[in-house]
Amino acid sequence: MGVVGCGSIAEIAHFPSIARCKEAKLAAVCDVNPAGAEASATKWGAEQWFTDYREMFEKCKLDAVVIATPNNVHRNQAVAAAKAGIHVVVEKPLAVTNVEAWEIVNACKAAGVKLMVGCDRRFWTHNQWAKELIEAGVIGKLLMSRSCLHEHWYNYQNHVAKTDFRLRCNIAGGAAINDTGAHAIDLLTWLNGSKVKRAVGVAKRLAMPETYTLCDDTALVMVEFENGAFGTISCNRFSPAVNQVTELCGTEGTIFTATDATNPFQSWPMAVYTSKPYSVETLPKILKDYRWPELFWVEDIINPTVRNRWVPICPPRSPNNYDRMTAHYLDCIINDKPPLVSGEDGARAIEVMCAALQSMRTGGWVDLPLKEEVIPPFYEPLPKEV
Ligand SMILES: NC(=O)c1ccc[n+]([C@@H]2O[C@H](COP(=O)([O-])OP(=O)(O)OC[C@H]3O[C@@H](n4cnc5c(N)ncnc54)[C@H](O)[C@@H]3O)[C@@H](O)[C@H]2O)c1
Repeated sequence: MGVVGCGSIAEIAHFPSIARCKEAKLAAVCDVNPAGAEASATKWGAEQWFTDYREMFEKCKLDAVVIATPNNVHRNQAVAAAKAGIHVVVEKPLAVTNVEAWEIVNACKAAGVKLMVGCDRRFWTHNQWAKELIEAGVIGKLLMSRSCLHEHWYNYQNHVAKTDFRLRCNIAGGAAINDTGAHAIDLLTWLNGSKVKRAVGVAKRLAMPETYTLCDDTALVMVEFENGAFGTISCNRFSPAVNQVTELCGTEGTIFTATDATNPFQSWPMAVYTSKPYSVETLPKILKDYRWPELFWVEDIINPTVRNRWVPICPPRSPNNYDRMTAHYLDCIINDKPPLVSGEDGARAIEVMCAALQSMRTGGWVDLPLKEEVIPPFYEPLPKEV
């Protein structure tokens, strides 16, 4: 495998996960910063390092590559990887504009390579269990849901990021709407199991001075899914308290999941309430394994139907979300399976972001798929190299 972009997410997540994955071997890395590329190659055992991704694709016999660079170069690098016949994982957001995103999807399709988007929230165990429980009908019909991700710039930008690309709107194309928003939109859409039909929203810079960034720090999006359900996405980059919650309200129950933080209001990573008349025997396995009766020795004898109450669930943290994502992607390549986060999913998430921006101009709901390219304010698309 190769990795393009030896920055923070490569260092925190991709390199360690590739190193821990039995099926993967890191062959080459690339970064425009030669010192960064060389240091990563040395640290993570890659035989070669490059400063130009085209040279890397040409000279190395890579099966797959992870694109972990700033958002504005995803399109050129992913299309080049596809044209070189290399399977490709693109970090979220897949691209910045809807046209860029679909060009990546189409190039990968034409080349017959597997494209996956790095939406790691889908690989957290509690989100996978939520999906399983929804599909098993445990909360009835999912009609209303929300996903939020509130995280101050300070946490990531000042402590983890290797460059300031996130603050530069001409490169990043946005922040709350497409950086943290990419996760919330993808997660909510996947859990709903339906495509977004239309969207309306706002993405504005409310907290940060323009000397700091021109990117939005506050985003609110409402979506209607094709199956008739509604969802809301809210993300900000000014709350000092990190808060990530997904709330899924069905006609017969509710599920909460929280991935990025626990706090007094999300004191458990997951909680499930179901009003279905389960007995101990018929409880879904996840609930059976994680439910603690209040009176261990008698409650289930007294009540043939399990009492309706919240079941707090603390899923195991290991293997972590990135290890699971890398292992999954390798399995898809080796055994010819479709990746869980498809290119189409990634492109549709970009459409939702772009539709929300478009709705600020038109003042109403915007139907998907979009009919024209939506270029976020201040974004400067790069010339197409391939
Ligand atoms: N899934 C997640 O939760 C998650 C978390 C962080 C970042 N990301 C995504 O990963 C991508 C990278 O973010 P980051 O936080 O690692 O950024 P970063 O600033 O820490 O690192 C980016 C790296 O890319 C290099 N680079 C820039 N242009 C390049 C080019 N043309 N070719 C090769 N290398 C180039 C930079 O020198 C730097 O080393 C972004 O798209 C971001 O949204 C995803």
